[in-house]
Amino acid sequence: MLGLKNVAVIGAGGNLGPFVTEKLAEAGFHTTIIIRPESKYTLPDSHAHLTNHLLRVKRCAFDEESLTAAFHGQDVVVVMIGKGVAILSQKTIIDAAARAGVKRFFPSEFGSNTLSAELLRNVPAMKAKAMILTYLQQKAAAHPALKWTAICNGAFFDWGLTSGFLGFNLQEQTANIYGSGNQHFHATMRSTIGLAIVSALRNPDTENKYLYISNISTSQRELLSVLEMNSGSPWKVTSKDVMVERAEGMDKLARQDFSGMGQLILADLYGEGKGTVDPVELDNELLGLEAVGLERLVSRTMQCSI
Ligand SMILES: NC(=O)c1ccc[n+]([C@@H]2O[C@H](COP(=O)([O-])OP(=O)(O)OC[C@H]3O[C@@H](n4cnc5c(N)ncnc54)[C@H](OP(=O)(O)O)[C@@H]3O)[C@@H](O)[C@H]2O)c1
Repeated sequence: MLGLKNVAVIGAGGNLGPFVTEKLAEAGFHTTIIIRPESKYTLPDSHAHLTNHLLRVKRCAFDEESLTAAFHGQDVVVVMIGKGVAILSQKTIIDAAARAGVKRFFPSEFGSNTLSAELLRNVPAMKAKAMILTYLQQKAAAHPALKWTAICNGAFFDWGLTSGFLGFNLQEQTANIYGSGNQHFHATMRSTIGLAIVSALRNPDTENKYLYISNISTSQRELLSVLEMNSGSPWKVTSKDVMVERAEGMDKLARQDFSGMGQLILADLYGEGKGTVDPVELDNELLGLEAVGLERLVSRTMQCSI
């Protein structure tokens, strides 16, 4: 055991945050959810079984002084803030963590492989995450007590399927299939990401590492066949051209239309590149994560989304 007990979480109210927060508190970590002054965050009903001493909420200004005070006594900081400029706001959070003596820092990665030059070409906005990782590594080099761990999990399987992001509309039983639809991509349940963080906090071999995890490597065609089998009828399929999607996404971003971001991420995920998780070098075993079959992942996703 590394003796890491107190964990501060930023971004607990987003798409990923509730799953990570729940796994941390269930594993016995004293978890403090740090929210901005203007935040509308409230503890979700799914956290009702977690006792007060394991989970608390602290409202805090996001300047370096206030965050340093908030991080005092915290061993770990996990950041799960979302979009755009918010990613760069992690510089202040990293500075405060180093000053407060935090021992482990998880930057807001949790998706595509930001170490991949191909990803940064295909989805230029990901450079912000890559910059933050470099900044964190430099800070850790100057403050040896501060270690970092980054998690690269590919697509969120459950969120991607239920939100329609992965190209499937569960209500209308339609699918947008990119290219041949046979390109494999990695995907991970959000609860698995929570388990990965818990494991990483118990294992010194995860210090200062960029870790690749995934529940499954699958393709859109394989996913479609499970969905069709479950619904008992064929789905209506629309073909999408990866190159057209990429060009449209780039064009939208050039016009400050950030809806292009999703198109670029999907063109990368379903394109021929390796911008997502490196398929060869998974760290599932190091973190004690199990591979899960596609049918089980789909059924777990459906159960949770009811
Ligand atoms: N792999 C995938 O498929 C996938 C999908 C979605 C997201 N992601 C990644 O997962 C991570 C978390 O994303 P998410 O969608 O869960 O996050 P999100 O919903 O966009 O935001 C999470 C929380 O961040 C806080 N926040 C927003 N802007 C902030 C700012 N400027 N400064 C400080 N806090 C701010 C807010 O909390 P308060 O208002 O309570 O302070 C918000 O509830 C990101 O790295 C994202 O890129 C991956």
